Amino acid sequence: MFPEHRPRRLRSTAALRRLVSETTLRPRQLILPMFVAEGIEAPRPISSMPGVVQHTRESLRKAAVDAVRAGVGGLMLFGIPREHDPLGCGATDENGILNVALRDLRAELGDDTVIMADTCLDEFTDHGHCGVLNAAGEVDNDATLDVYAKMAVAQADAGAHMLGPSGMMDGQVGVIRRALDEAGHQNVSILAYSAKYASAFYGPFREAVDSQLKGDRKTYQQDAGNAREALHEIELDIAEGADAIMVKPALAYLDVLRAAAEASPVPVAAYNISGEYAMVEAAAANGWLDRERTILEVLTSIRRAGADMILTYWATEAAAWLD
Ligand code: PBG
Repeated sequence: MFPEHRPRRLRSTAALRRLVSETTLRPRQLILPMFVAEGIEAPRPISSMPGVVQHTRESLRKAAVDAVRAGVGGLMLFGIPREHDPLGCGATDENGILNVALRDLRAELGDDTVIMADTCLDEFTDHGHCGVLNAAGEVDNDATLDVYAKMAVAQADAGAHMLGPSGMMDGQVGVIRRALDEAGHQNVSILAYSAKYASAFYGPFREAVDSQLKGDRKTYQQDAGNAREALHEIELDIAEGADAIMVKPALAYLDVLRAAAEASPVPVAAYNISGEYAMVEAAAANGWLDRERTILEVLTSIRRAGADMILTYWATEAAAWLD
């Protein structure tokens, strides 16, 4: 008899397909990145990310509640200050927009969800780099670490449960861990952006945070061609105290994600970033892709590649579909 093997048998009804499905995608595995801007009267649409906005403090609170009701597992907050300066002072100021908004969310949501903060200076600096610059105009690794330590403590004081250092400075996880512990924040955890690539897919995010950047981030973010280096970064971050690690972007780096998931003793996140969102939204708006099916396939694939959790701008909407 030929064919001897018939894998199609297990695909023949929806019930069979459900029974043998290898990958789960649940709302609690999704983390919603959110933007909050200082001094705006109404939410501001981000044109390259249709459906995503810069929130006011009030609209942020409402959107956060909606996300939690939908079952989303966490919220990752980014702040957009009114003023930028060379040192990114708005990041360490307890009255800076990000810290104020963290306080709002913690007051509103308590421990019902995991409140996360982006621990990075690029939204706050007038040159748009993720760290401070030396006299030669280069990103100064160790001077930046001092600022990250202060920023981390300010975010923890404001109520963040988990910090996401995303600047790719050497030693950032260790410095932040030490600063948190010294300030009595032993229980505030670190989701380290360990393997973060210098990616063209961040384009729409730069609009989202009114980025001041000219040039690129190639002296601190990784080169697209390098996979082994990602495992080194992950190992270092775990040794420095990372509670969870991240690979970013997701879709063009699923091989790195798979390798990270196999190597990591701690939970692994992947960031389904702005450019990945924009591509699908643009194609769907043109009628070239089935939007819902595409989004669920993207998220399922990131899970299949090994992510325990996914940061995605579709978190609330996808959670509602999955419910
Ligand atoms: C840096 C940061 C960036 C993103 C998250 N954190 C931008 C960058 O590194 O240039 C990008 C997220 C996205 O594109 O969705 N604070």
